[in-house]
Amino acid sequence: MKALILVGGFGTRLRPLTLSVPKPLVEFANKPMILHQIEALKATGVTEVVLAINYQPEVMLNFLKDFEAKLEIKITCSQETEPLGTAGPLALARDKLIDDSGEPFFVLNSDVISEYPLKEMIKFHKSHGGEASIMVTKVDEPSKYGVVVMEESTGQVERFVEKPKLFVGNKINAGIYLLNPSVLDRIELRPTSIEKEVFPNIAAEKKLYAMVLPGFWMDIGQPRDYITGLRLYLDSLRKKSSPKLASGTHIIGNVLVDESAKIGEGCLIGPDVAIGPGCVVESGVRLSRCTVMRGVRIKKHACVSSSIIGWHSTVGQWARVENMTILGEDVHVGDEIYSNGGVVLPHKEIKSNILKPEIVM
Ligand code: GDD
Ligand code: MG
Repeated sequence: MKALILVGGFGTRLRPLTLSVPKPLVEFANKPMILHQIEALKATGVTEVVLAINYQPEVMLNFLKDFEAKLEIKITCSQETEPLGTAGPLALARDKLIDDSGEPFFVLNSDVISEYPLKEMIKFHKSHGGEASIMVTKVDEPSKYGVVVMEESTGQVERFVEKPKLFVGNKINAGIYLLNPSVLDRIELRPTSIEKEVFPNIAAEKKLYAMVLPGFWMDIGQPRDYITGLRLYLDSLRKKSSPKLASGTHIIGNVLVDESAKIGEGCLIGPDVAIGPGCVVESGVRLSRCTVMRGVRIKKHACVSSSIIGWHSTVGQWARVENMTILGEDVHVGDEIYSNGGVVLPHKEIKSNILKPEIVM
């Protein structure tokens, strides 16, 4: 079986992290986002993943070369010379996706996180006999997603409305599809949207079916959702009694600590924290609801909450970093500095307080 991951887009909503690496390579729970997906695809029996890419393909391929061997899965790129949207890339990769087997293939948005119930999806797809299956999930704020109106008992989709201005329902497209090869005959090689141009047509012919995704789901393409997504992901690890979760008197709730990270005396860490490889957390530090990326140093008695600390940054002694502060790569926050929602571009030194949410260039 094959799969295509939509990797394009500039990831502007996840800046400043995406100024350093393409969005799919930003770590989530100590693992690049795209690896969560590739591993899930592999576990479902997918043998070849096509990355539909329009931005920094060399970076992606170099990075994934190692994993190709490790995971024993073929990873290739289909590169656009202009952004082709969410459907055009499928037309471009047509020859890579179709083979003699006539099997359906998976398509994934690269910025969604879930338990990837892909085996259940294959079963669902076989059972309804339609042309395409999509996963849907319930959310409180449907307007920023693609909304699906479906017949509850069969899953047949009646309407698909991308980013509706008026309320049509609260079940939304989770960005995980299983498509018959015939869907490719509906897509022209030009910039085009699967959500606006392809799904509404298949739905009109009553050949689009939706399955409600069991378990958690989050689009982690924005900082706030990324932080919420980490909480949901760690919760699901807890439910599975995952041995990856840290334990000890200094740990509160669900926490991931890479084995190469060093944690000092008297720290209090959690809930919902991920600490990456090579990090040094000095004594007396308080961390909650945050991600600390590879190579970061958090100095004595600093307090970090609801924030993301980018690669190789430092947070000074007694500093307080909170409220969706996002530090890009190699940012250095001085001792006793306060950051309330600062979004700091890479390679900066912060010597004065950031009192309200703002971008620091
Ligand atoms: N190759 C390629 N080329 N990929 C692209 C392009 C492009 O021109 N434009 C976007 N993508 C990729 C993005 O990298 C992402 O993985 C996926 O397509 C969806 O794009 P987003 O920009 O993240 O869209 P969204 O989050 O606003 O909405 C989409 O996802 C929601 C779920 O998270 C839609 O599919 C919605 O219907 C859906 O509910
Ligand atoms: Mg998205």
